[in-house]
Amino acid sequence: MKEYNIAVIPGDGIGQEVTPEGVRVLNAASEVTGEFMMRYEYFPWGCDYYLQHGSMMPEDGLDILRPFDAVYFGAVGLPKQVPDHVSLHGLLIKIRLGFDQYVCARPSLLLPGIKSPLGGKKYGDIDFVIVRENTEGEYSGAGGKCHPGLGCELALETSVFTRVGVERIIRYAFQLAQTRKKHLICVTKSNAQRYTLTLWDECFERIAEDFPEVATERMLVDAMAARLILRPESVDVAVASNMFGDILTDIGGAISGSLGISPSVNINPERQFPSMFEPVHGSAPDIIGKGIADPIAMIWTGGLMLDFLGHKDAAALILEAIKKVTGEGRCLGKDLGGSAKTTEITDAIIAKIREAR
Ligand code: NAI
Ligand code: MG
Repeated sequence: MKEYNIAVIPGDGIGQEVTPEGVRVLNAASEVTGEFMMRYEYFPWGCDYYLQHGSMMPEDGLDILRPFDAVYFGAVGLPKQVPDHVSLHGLLIKIRLGFDQYVCARPSLLLPGIKSPLGGKKYGDIDFVIVRENTEGEYSGAGGKCHPGLGCELALETSVFTRVGVERIIRYAFQLAQTRKKHLICVTKSNAQRYTLTLWDECFERIAEDFPEVATERMLVDAMAARLILRPESVDVAVASNMFGDILTDIGGAISGSLGISPSVNINPERQFPSMFEPVHGSAPDIIGKGIADPIAMIWTGGLMLDFLGHKDAAALILEAIKKVTGEGRCLGKDLGGSAKTTEITDAIIAKIREAR
Protein backbone atom coordinates (compact mmCIF):
# COMPACT_ATOMS: atom_id res chain seq x y z
CA MET A 1 0.00 0.00 0.00
CA LYS A 2 1.28 3.46 -0.93
CA GLU A 3 1.65 5.91 1.92
CA TYR A 4 1.60 9.68 1.58
CA ASN A 5 2.39 12.57 3.87
CA ILE A 6 -0.05 15.38 3.19
CA ALA A 7 0.35 18.89 4.58
CA VAL A 8 -3.12 20.25 5.31
CA ILE A 9 -3.65 24.02 5.49
CA PRO A 10 -7.34 24.73 6.10
CA GLY A 11 -6.65 28.50 6.09
CA ASP A 12 -9.47 30.94 6.72
CA GLY A 13 -13.24 31.19 6.66
CA ILE A 14 -14.99 28.32 4.95
CA GLY A 15 -11.56 26.83 4.20
CA GLN A 16 -11.78 25.55 7.77
CA GLU A 17 -15.26 24.16 7.13
CA VAL A 18 -14.67 22.35 3.84
CA THR A 19 -11.17 20.98 4.49
CA PRO A 20 -12.27 18.38 7.09
CA GLU A 21 -14.95 17.26 4.63
CA GLY A 22 -12.36 16.74 1.91
CA VAL A 23 -10.24 14.74 4.35
CA ARG A 24 -13.21 12.54 5.26
CA VAL A 25 -13.73 11.70 1.61
CA LEU A 26 -10.03 10.99 1.04
CA ASN A 27 -10.16 8.61 4.00
CA ALA A 28 -13.25 6.89 2.60
CA ALA A 29 -11.55 6.46 -0.79
CA SER A 30 -8.48 5.09 0.98
CA GLU A 31 -10.55 2.55 2.96
CA VAL A 32 -12.65 1.45 0.02
CA THR A 33 -9.81 1.01 -2.49
CA GLY A 34 -7.16 -0.18 -0.03
CA GLU A 35 -4.62 1.31 -2.44
CA PHE A 36 -3.14 4.08 -0.35
CA MET A 37 -2.95 5.62 3.09
CA MET A 38 -2.70 9.30 3.95
CA ARG A 39 -0.88 10.72 6.95
CA TYR A 40 -1.98 14.30 7.57
CA GLU A 41 -0.14 17.06 9.31
CA TYR A 42 -2.14 20.23 9.97
CA PHE A 43 -0.75 23.75 9.79
CA PRO A 44 -2.80 26.60 11.30
CA TRP A 45 -1.45 29.21 8.91
CA GLY A 46 -3.65 32.03 7.69
CA CYS A 47 -5.13 35.31 8.92
CA ASP A 48 -5.49 34.29 12.60
CA TYR A 49 -1.85 33.23 12.56
CA TYR A 50 -1.00 36.61 11.02
CA LEU A 51 -2.82 38.50 13.75
CA GLN A 52 -0.80 36.61 16.37
CA HIS A 53 2.59 36.41 14.67
CA GLY A 54 2.69 39.21 12.10
CA SER A 55 3.15 36.83 9.16
CA MET A 56 0.83 34.45 7.36
CA MET A 57 3.18 31.51 7.80
CA PRO A 58 6.51 31.00 9.59
CA GLU A 59 9.67 32.30 7.95
CA ASP A 60 10.77 28.74 7.17
CA GLY A 61 7.27 27.68 6.07
CA LEU A 62 8.42 26.46 2.66
CA ASP A 63 11.18 24.37 4.25
CA ILE A 64 8.58 22.81 6.53
CA LEU A 65 6.31 21.94 3.59
CA ARG A 66 9.04 20.74 1.19
CA PRO A 67 9.25 17.10 2.40
CA PHE A 68 5.50 16.50 1.97
CA ASP A 69 4.01 14.64 -0.97
CA ALA A 70 1.35 17.30 -1.48
CA VAL A 71 -0.34 20.28 0.13
CA TYR A 72 -4.12 20.20 0.58
CA PHE A 73 -5.27 23.78 0.99
CA GLY A 74 -8.67 25.27 1.92
CA ALA A 75 -8.80 29.02 1.31
CA VAL A 76 -7.20 32.18 2.56
CA GLY A 77 -8.50 35.67 3.35
CA LEU A 78 -10.37 37.57 6.04
CA PRO A 79 -10.62 40.97 4.39
CA LYS A 80 -12.01 42.73 7.45
CA GLN A 81 -8.99 41.73 9.54
CA VAL A 82 -6.09 41.45 7.08
CA PRO A 83 -5.80 43.22 3.71
CA ASP A 84 -6.30 40.69 0.90
CA HIS A 85 -3.01 41.49 -0.84
CA VAL A 86 -1.19 40.69 2.40
CA SER A 87 -3.01 37.40 3.05
CA LEU A 88 -2.89 36.12 -0.52
CA HIS A 89 0.76 36.97 -1.17
CA GLY A 90 1.86 35.95 2.32
CA LEU A 91 0.64 32.38 2.01
CA LEU A 92 -0.94 31.12 -1.17
CA ILE A 93 1.15 32.96 -3.73
CA LYS A 94 4.28 32.36 -1.65
CA ILE A 95 3.71 28.61 -1.90
CA ARG A 96 2.79 28.69 -5.60
CA LEU A 97 5.91 30.69 -6.47
CA GLY A 98 8.27 29.10 -3.97
CA PHE A 99 7.44 25.59 -5.17
CA ASP A 100 7.38 26.61 -8.83
CA GLN A 101 3.80 25.37 -9.20
CA TYR A 102 3.61 26.89 -12.62
CA VAL A 103 0.52 25.02 -13.81
CA CYS A 104 -2.86 25.98 -12.44
CA ALA A 105 -5.37 23.67 -14.12
CA ARG A 106 -9.06 24.25 -13.49
CA PRO A 107 -11.73 22.01 -14.95
CA SER A 108 -15.25 23.34 -15.45
CA LEU A 109 -17.85 20.63 -15.86
CA LEU A 110 -21.60 20.99 -15.73
CA LEU A 111 -22.44 18.09 -13.42
CA PRO A 112 -25.58 15.95 -13.76
CA GLY A 113 -28.63 17.53 -12.15
CA ILE A 114 -27.06 20.98 -11.88
CA LYS A 115 -28.77 23.95 -13.46
CA SER A 116 -26.41 26.30 -15.25
CA PRO A 117 -27.37 29.98 -15.18
CA LEU A 118 -27.01 29.68 -18.96
CA GLY A 119 -30.27 28.47 -20.47
CA GLY A 120 -30.69 25.07 -22.11
CA LYS A 121 -27.43 23.48 -20.96
CA LYS A 122 -27.32 19.91 -19.74
CA TYR A 123 -24.73 17.61 -18.18
CA GLY A 124 -21.53 17.68 -20.21
CA ASP A 125 -22.42 20.69 -22.38
CA ILE A 126 -19.87 22.61 -20.33
CA ASP A 127 -16.68 20.57 -20.07
CA PHE A 128 -13.43 22.43 -20.43
CA VAL A 129 -10.12 23.00 -18.66
CA ILE A 130 -8.43 26.37 -18.36
CA VAL A 131 -4.67 26.07 -17.98
CA ARG A 132 -3.46 29.14 -16.16
CA GLU A 133 0.18 30.25 -15.86
CA ASN A 134 0.69 30.39 -12.11
CA THR A 135 4.08 31.88 -11.28
CA GLU A 136 4.58 35.09 -13.23
CA GLY A 137 2.59 37.36 -15.55
CA GLU A 138 0.43 39.94 -13.85
CA TYR A 139 0.81 38.35 -10.37
CA SER A 140 4.61 38.19 -10.32
CA GLY A 141 4.70 40.62 -7.41
CA ALA A 142 7.18 42.90 -9.19
CA GLY A 143 6.37 46.50 -8.39
CA GLY A 144 6.54 49.25 -5.85
CA LYS A 145 5.33 52.64 -4.73
CA CYS A 146 6.86 56.10 -4.78
CA HIS A 147 5.74 59.08 -2.71
CA PRO A 148 3.43 56.97 -0.52
CA GLY A 149 0.63 58.98 1.02
CA LEU A 150 1.38 62.16 -0.93
CA GLY A 151 -0.78 63.65 -3.62
CA CYS A 152 1.73 62.58 -6.25
CA GLU A 153 1.75 58.94 -5.05
CA LEU A 154 2.75 56.52 -7.79
CA ALA A 155 2.19 52.76 -7.93
CA LEU A 156 3.78 50.39 -10.42
CA GLU A 157 3.02 46.72 -10.87
CA THR A 158 4.89 45.07 -13.69
CA SER A 159 3.79 42.00 -15.59
CA VAL A 160 6.69 39.61 -15.98
CA PHE A 161 6.73 37.13 -18.84
CA THR A 162 9.80 34.99 -19.42
CA ARG A 163 10.28 32.78 -22.47
CA VAL A 164 10.91 29.80 -20.19
CA GLY A 165 7.77 30.53 -18.18
CA VAL A 166 5.58 31.02 -21.24
CA GLU A 167 6.90 28.03 -23.16
CA ARG A 168 6.48 25.55 -20.35
CA ILE A 169 2.86 26.43 -19.64
CA ILE A 170 1.95 26.34 -23.32
CA ARG A 171 3.66 22.98 -23.73
CA TYR A 172 1.74 21.61 -20.74
CA ALA A 173 -1.53 22.84 -22.27
CA PHE A 174 -0.76 21.15 -25.59
CA GLN A 175 0.00 17.90 -23.79
CA LEU A 176 -3.30 18.13 -21.94
CA ALA A 177 -5.15 18.94 -25.17
CA GLN A 178 -3.65 15.78 -26.70
CA THR A 179 -5.39 13.69 -24.03
CA ARG A 180 -8.77 15.39 -24.61
CA LYS A 181 -10.42 16.68 -27.80
CA LYS A 182 -7.14 17.85 -29.39
CA HIS A 183 -8.24 21.46 -29.52
CA LEU A 184 -6.41 24.30 -27.77
CA ILE A 185 -7.29 27.98 -27.53
CA CYS A 186 -4.52 30.48 -26.81
CA VAL A 187 -5.96 33.43 -24.87
CA THR A 188 -4.13 36.76 -24.79
CA LYS A 189 -4.71 40.45 -25.28
CA SER A 190 -1.82 40.97 -27.66
CA ASN A 191 -3.57 43.69 -29.61
CA ALA A 192 -3.27 45.94 -26.54
CA GLN A 193 -0.26 44.45 -24.73
CA ARG A 194 2.43 44.75 -27.34
CA TYR A 195 5.48 43.26 -25.65
CA THR A 196 4.52 40.54 -23.22
CA LEU A 197 1.63 38.91 -24.98
CA THR A 198 3.14 39.07 -28.43
CA LEU A 199 5.98 37.03 -26.91
CA TRP A 200 3.27 34.64 -25.69
CA ASP A 201 1.73 34.39 -29.19
CA GLU A 202 5.14 33.75 -30.77
CA CYS A 203 5.87 30.96 -28.29
CA PHE A 204 2.43 29.48 -28.94
CA GLU A 205 2.89 29.39 -32.72
CA ARG A 206 6.31 27.78 -32.40
CA ILE A 207 5.23 25.10 -29.94
CA ALA A 208 2.11 24.36 -32.01
CA GLU A 209 4.45 22.98 -34.69
CA ASP A 210 5.44 20.20 -32.27
CA PHE A 211 1.79 19.18 -31.86
CA PRO A 212 0.40 19.00 -35.41
CA GLU A 213 -2.52 16.80 -34.29
CA VAL A 214 -3.86 19.54 -31.98
CA ALA A 215 -6.09 22.12 -33.69
CA THR A 216 -5.44 25.63 -32.39
CA GLU A 217 -7.22 28.96 -32.16
CA ARG A 218 -6.16 32.33 -30.84
CA MET A 219 -8.63 34.52 -28.95
CA LEU A 220 -8.44 37.87 -27.21
CA VAL A 221 -9.45 37.56 -23.58
CA ASP A 222 -12.50 39.83 -23.78
CA ALA A 223 -13.92 37.84 -26.68
CA MET A 224 -13.05 34.63 -24.83
CA ALA A 225 -15.04 35.79 -21.79
CA ALA A 226 -18.07 36.30 -24.03
CA ARG A 227 -17.52 32.94 -25.77
CA LEU A 228 -17.51 31.07 -22.46
CA ILE A 229 -20.99 32.47 -21.83
CA LEU A 230 -22.39 32.23 -25.35
CA ARG A 231 -20.78 29.00 -26.63
CA PRO A 232 -19.08 27.16 -23.77
CA GLU A 233 -19.49 23.84 -25.59
CA SER A 234 -17.00 25.08 -28.20
CA VAL A 235 -14.20 25.19 -25.61
CA ASP A 236 -12.16 22.15 -24.55
CA VAL A 237 -8.73 23.38 -23.37
CA ALA A 238 -7.56 26.99 -23.20
CA VAL A 239 -4.26 28.41 -21.98
CA ALA A 240 -3.92 31.88 -20.48
CA SER A 241 -1.76 34.10 -18.33
CA ASN A 242 -2.09 34.28 -14.55
CA MET A 243 -4.71 37.02 -14.30
CA PHE A 244 -6.66 36.11 -17.41
CA GLY A 245 -6.81 32.48 -16.27
CA ASP A 246 -7.94 33.61 -12.83
CA ILE A 247 -10.83 35.62 -14.25
CA LEU A 248 -11.90 33.08 -16.87
CA THR A 249 -12.03 30.29 -14.29
CA ASP A 250 -14.49 32.23 -12.13
CA ILE A 251 -16.70 32.41 -15.22
CA GLY A 252 -16.17 28.66 -15.60
CA GLY A 253 -17.29 28.10 -12.01
CA ALA A 254 -20.29 30.39 -12.31
CA ILE A 255 -21.63 28.84 -15.53
CA SER A 256 -21.14 25.33 -14.10
CA GLY A 257 -23.58 26.20 -11.33
CA SER A 258 -21.44 27.49 -8.46
CA LEU A 259 -17.94 28.44 -7.41
CA GLY A 260 -18.58 26.03 -4.54
CA ILE A 261 -18.12 23.06 -6.86
CA SER A 262 -15.07 24.22 -8.87
CA PRO A 263 -11.80 22.39 -8.20
CA SER A 264 -8.27 23.57 -8.91
CA VAL A 265 -4.70 22.29 -8.81
CA ASN A 266 -1.35 24.07 -8.58
CA ILE A 267 1.18 21.71 -10.07
CA ASN A 268 4.92 21.47 -10.38
CA PRO A 269 4.90 18.88 -13.19
CA GLU A 270 8.56 17.97 -12.70
CA ARG A 271 7.75 17.04 -9.08
CA GLN A 272 10.78 18.89 -7.76
CA PHE A 273 8.49 20.34 -5.08
CA PRO A 274 5.14 19.37 -3.59
CA SER A 275 2.11 20.44 -5.60
CA MET A 276 -0.83 22.14 -3.95
CA PHE A 277 -4.50 21.28 -4.30
CA GLU A 278 -7.13 23.92 -3.45
CA PRO A 279 -10.59 24.81 -4.70
CA VAL A 280 -11.14 27.85 -6.94
CA HIS A 281 -13.25 29.60 -4.33
CA GLY A 282 -12.02 31.79 -1.50
CA SER A 283 -12.90 31.98 2.19
CA ALA A 284 -16.49 33.17 1.49
CA PRO A 285 -16.81 35.55 4.47
CA ASP A 286 -20.52 36.01 3.73
CA ILE A 287 -21.35 32.43 4.74
CA ILE A 288 -18.76 31.64 7.44
CA GLY A 289 -20.12 29.61 10.33
CA LYS A 290 -23.51 28.89 8.75
CA GLY A 291 -22.73 25.29 7.88
CA ILE A 292 -23.80 25.85 4.28
CA ALA A 293 -20.45 25.96 2.48
CA ASP A 294 -20.57 23.53 -0.41
CA PRO A 295 -17.79 20.97 0.14
CA ILE A 296 -17.88 19.63 -3.44
CA ALA A 297 -15.05 21.84 -4.76
CA MET A 298 -12.78 20.75 -1.90
CA ILE A 299 -13.77 17.09 -2.28
CA TRP A 300 -13.28 17.07 -6.04
CA THR A 301 -9.94 18.84 -5.54
CA GLY A 302 -8.95 15.95 -3.25
CA GLY A 303 -9.80 13.61 -6.12
CA LEU A 304 -7.51 15.59 -8.41
CA MET A 305 -4.76 15.26 -5.78
CA LEU A 306 -5.19 11.47 -5.86
CA ASP A 307 -5.07 11.56 -9.65
CA PHE A 308 -1.78 13.48 -9.54
CA LEU A 309 -0.38 11.00 -7.01
CA GLY A 310 -1.20 8.19 -9.46
CA HIS A 311 -4.50 6.87 -8.09
CA LYS A 312 -6.71 7.41 -11.10
CA ASP A 313 -9.34 4.86 -10.08
CA ALA A 314 -9.77 6.41 -6.65
CA ALA A 315 -10.01 9.86 -8.24
CA ALA A 316 -12.68 8.59 -10.65
CA LEU A 317 -14.53 6.98 -7.75
CA ILE A 318 -14.78 10.36 -6.02
CA LEU A 319 -15.95 12.21 -9.14
CA GLU A 320 -18.52 9.51 -9.92
CA ALA A 321 -19.86 9.73 -6.35
CA ILE A 322 -20.18 13.53 -6.69
CA LYS A 323 -22.04 13.06 -9.99
CA LYS A 324 -24.44 10.56 -8.46
CA VAL A 325 -25.26 12.93 -5.61
CA THR A 326 -25.82 15.94 -7.86
CA GLY A 327 -27.69 13.79 -10.39
CA GLU A 328 -30.17 12.58 -7.76
CA GLY A 329 -30.67 16.18 -6.68
CA ARG A 330 -31.83 15.28 -3.16
CA CYS A 331 -28.77 16.57 -1.34
CA LEU A 332 -27.68 19.86 -2.89
CA GLY A 333 -26.23 22.85 -1.09
CA LYS A 334 -27.83 26.27 -0.92
CA ASP A 335 -25.50 27.50 -3.68
CA LEU A 336 -27.12 24.93 -6.00
CA GLY A 337 -30.69 25.69 -4.99
CA GLY A 338 -30.95 23.01 -2.28
CA SER A 339 -30.94 23.10 1.50
CA ALA A 340 -28.37 20.43 2.45
CA LYS A 341 -25.72 21.32 5.01
CA THR A 342 -22.00 20.96 4.37
CA THR A 343 -21.66 17.71 6.31
CA GLU A 344 -24.79 16.18 4.78
CA ILE A 345 -23.40 16.65 1.29
CA THR A 346 -20.18 14.93 2.33
CA ASP A 347 -22.11 12.08 3.96
CA ALA A 348 -24.06 11.55 0.73
CA ILE A 349 -20.86 11.46 -1.34
CA ILE A 350 -19.20 9.01 1.05
CA ALA A 351 -22.27 6.76 0.92
CA LYS A 352 -21.98 6.66 -2.89
CA ILE A 353 -18.26 5.83 -2.67
CA ARG A 354 -19.04 2.91 -0.37
CA GLU A 355 -21.92 1.70 -2.56
CA ALA A 356 -19.69 1.65 -5.64
CA ARG A 357 -17.43 -1.09 -4.23
P1 NAI B 1 -15.19 33.73 -2.62
O1 NAI B 1 -14.86 32.66 -3.57
O2 NAI B 1 -14.76 33.55 -1.22
O3 NAI B 1 -16.78 33.98 -2.62
C1 NAI B 1 -17.49 34.40 -3.77
C2 NAI B 1 -18.98 34.01 -3.61
O4 NAI B 1 -19.10 32.59 -3.80
C3 NAI B 1 -19.53 34.31 -2.23
O5 NAI B 1 -20.86 34.73 -2.35
C4 NAI B 1 -19.46 32.98 -1.52
O6 NAI B 1 -20.43 32.80 -0.52
C5 NAI B 1 -19.67 31.99 -2.66
N1 NAI B 1 -18.96 30.73 -2.39
C6 NAI B 1 -17.64 30.53 -2.51
N2 NAI B 1 -17.33 29.27 -2.16
C7 NAI B 1 -18.48 28.67 -1.81
C8 NAI B 1 -18.81 27.37 -1.35
N3 NAI B 1 -17.89 26.42 -1.18
N4 NAI B 1 -20.11 27.10 -1.08
C9 NAI B 1 -21.07 28.02 -1.26
N5 NAI B 1 -20.81 29.28 -1.70
C10 NAI B 1 -19.53 29.60 -1.97
O7 NAI B 1 -14.57 35.08 -3.22
P2 NAI B 1 -14.52 36.57 -2.61
O8 NAI B 1 -15.77 36.85 -1.85
O9 NAI B 1 -14.15 37.42 -3.73
O10 NAI B 1 -13.28 36.56 -1.62
C11 NAI B 1 -13.38 36.31 -0.22
C12 NAI B 1 -12.00 36.16 0.36
O11 NAI B 1 -11.37 35.01 -0.18
C13 NAI B 1 -11.06 37.32 0.07
O12 NAI B 1 -10.27 37.50 1.21
C14 NAI B 1 -10.22 36.82 -1.10
O13 NAI B 1 -8.95 37.41 -1.18
C15 NAI B 1 -10.11 35.36 -0.75
N6 NAI B 1 -9.86 34.49 -1.89
C16 NAI B 1 -9.02 33.45 -1.68
C17 NAI B 1 -8.82 32.51 -2.66
C18 NAI B 1 -7.98 31.33 -2.34
O14 NAI B 1 -7.66 31.08 -1.20
N7 NAI B 1 -7.63 30.54 -3.33
C19 NAI B 1 -9.47 32.62 -3.97
C20 NAI B 1 -10.39 33.72 -4.06
C21 NAI B 1 -10.57 34.63 -3.06
MG1 MG C 1 -9.66 33.57 -8.47
